Amino acid sequence: MALGDAAGGTQYELGQTFARLVEEKSAGDIKVEMFPNGQLGSEQDTVNNANMGLVDLSVVAINNLTPFSPSVGVLTLPYVIHGPQDAKTLTHGKIGDELRDNTLRDAGIRILGWAYSGCRRLTNSKGPVASPEDLKGMVIRVPKNEIMISSYQAWGVNPNPLAWSETFTALQQGVVDGQDNPYITIDAMKFYEVQNHVTDSCYVFSLEPLIMGEGAFQDLSEANQTLVLDAAKEATAHSYDYLLATEDSIKKSLVEDHGMTITEPANDEKEWIAQASSIWPDFYDSIGGRDKLVEVLEVLGRDPASAP
Ligand code: MLT
Repeated sequence: MALGDAAGGTQYELGQTFARLVEEKSAGDIKVEMFPNGQLGSEQDTVNNANMGLVDLSVVAINNLTPFSPSVGVLTLPYVIHGPQDAKTLTHGKIGDELRDNTLRDAGIRILGWAYSGCRRLTNSKGPVASPEDLKGMVIRVPKNEIMISSYQAWGVNPNPLAWSETFTALQQGVVDGQDNPYITIDAMKFYEVQNHVTDSCYVFSLEPLIMGEGAFQDLSEANQTLVLDAAKEATAHSYDYLLATEDSIKKSLVEDHGMTITEPANDEKEWIAQASSIWPDFYDSIGGRDKLVEVLEVLGRDPASAP
């Protein structure tokens, strides 16, 4: 199993829970070996490699799956998912089933389960950022994901798209000034060593699917396929509880133990929200049409008229 993050975060927690359950359920017949910290390549490489049968399993941020499975982009549209409950609602039920089927069809990849990693928070090494205009003059790293690149452009920034595996070094060397990822990921990756400001924003919720190449899945016996799916379901439930149980204390520790400063978004995040959500229509084609977004907003109990 490839993991883009270092040990200790939500990817690792999901991966190791899944590995333990698979081993227990198979009475030791199946062992899953984990390779954290991008040892098996960038997250986007591991999606390709799972499709080609070069790696069996990987946990990747949803934004790194989107280039191979465009319809999951609905989960990275800025300000659609407001928090863990929304993320859980969308990954369970009809929308989640549909995104799983589309990913199998479009990328040859089976989504087995999900890590819930929390809202992505903007970090930087320059100063407090409360409003989009505070970003002026900063170089921000973004994943190689068109929706996220456009979000930053809407905030007046020309972002630098970089693979996750190159991000820490780019921050350390000052090639980029900032990036965004959830509190638990910031902590697992020790970003506090090279970033001192965090904005408590929530423009995208980081969902991180546990994926398996369909070739590897079909090579399993029917009984082992069931066992793997059951283990992933249990690991997904654990991931949600893990997020709720740890995020607040990790946020506190980033401030108290690692000296980060947290800035609240100005004006209830209104400018961030208005500017970023203006890009939604640019991605209707790739997510399956405006109707798909309307359906998602309805499932989340929000006003579908907010989709322009
Ligand atoms: C990214 O920023 O590319 C990913 O969110 C990193 C991750 O998987 O944690």
